[in-house]
Amino acid sequence: MLSCFSDHRSLCRAPTIPFLFLLLFYLFNISISCSDGTCQLLESCSASTDCGRSLYCGNCPALGKTQPICTRGQATIPTAFIGGLPFNKYSWLVTHNSFSIVDAPPLPGVQRLTFYNQEDTVTNQLLNGVRGLMLDMYDFEADIWLCHSFRGQCFNFTAFQPAINTLKEVESFLSQNPTEIVTIIIEDYVHAPKGLTKLFANAGLDKYWFPVSKMPKKGEDWPTVNEMVQANHRLLVFTSVASKEAEEGIAYQWKYMVENEAGDPGVKPGSCPNRKESKPLNSRSASLFLMNYFPTYPVENEACKEHSTPLAEMVGTCYKAAGHVMPNFVAVNYYMVLRDKSCRGVMEEVFLMIWIE
Ligand SMILES: *[C@@H]1O[C@H](CO)[C@@H](O)[C@H](O)[C@H]1NC(C)=O
Repeated sequence: MLSCFSDHRSLCRAPTIPFLFLLLFYLFNISISCSDGTCQLLESCSASTDCGRSLYCGNCPALGKTQPICTRGQATIPTAFIGGLPFNKYSWLVTHNSFSIVDAPPLPGVQRLTFYNQEDTVTNQLLNGVRGLMLDMYDFEADIWLCHSFRGQCFNFTAFQPAINTLKEVESFLSQNPTEIVTIIIEDYVHAPKGLTKLFANAGLDKYWFPVSKMPKKGEDWPTVNEMVQANHRLLVFTSVASKEAEEGIAYQWKYMVENEAGDPGVKPGSCPNRKESKPLNSRSASLFLMNYFPTYPVENEACKEHSTPLAEMVGTCYKAAGHVMPNFVAVNYYMVLRDKSCRGVMEEVFLMIWIE
């Protein structure tokens, strides 16, 4: 069962391993016979209605699998397994370019010319266990928009939608799920004065804001998830613009987080170099670690393959590169992925290894 991980076992025995993270994808479905919504994980199916709750019917031709099987579509919420730990002792599933959704309608009369990173709405992402969103924000049309672009400018053919729409989805999720915590990481091209401050306030998100003054500055532990829930500090927001920390009280990402390279360098097997904006991964002065794991040009059909053994191996590689620290955030494209029989859900395997051995 753990064959995908045989070469990482030594890692589990390392005395320094923090034994609790993460299980992003841990969710067994129990059922008895296979029809009408009772097919279990990995059983053959022909339609999603065959599969049990939280499963969908999918296959992975890129892995040579053409027979559809019931596939897990939800990540596990790590706090459901063990509560009460400091925020930085968990791993959370993050969607890269969460807004860049395959079916998103283009602007009226415009042919969109860009690539897509995700397959369903931000609301669905959150309902399926995603707890971190990577959002690129630009000044556009006298507002702030989510956009893919270049040279810091959004164009009508690369634009998605006003950021407020997506932030309102987050607000709705946080208000309906009073013990959940969401992190937003902004690639920030907004120059409008206090633009982000107004945006988050208009979305009704300021009431959940985790104050910068309470963020650990020297690599200490974060407050526990219980403390964050009690204080209603359930939204962490990071910007890529340093000056906004003093000007708007928005945390400057690189003070609090280390990251490996994004894009192709981040999926190269066997290496986990830090991104140039980031301190070295083994720096202990930032207590959050985000692992980027997505190719520069997303290919939807390949994601199920990328998200099996190669992702598991990269978690091990990055764990070592970070000086035996597991990533707190794992950022992927097309987060709903297939696990094959031998590699049944990468983070699930990590979880099982740690808890069983
Ligand atoms: C899109 O923007 C271009 C300029 O970048 C402009 O010429 C064109 O009219 C715009 N199209 C629409 C439908 O707004």
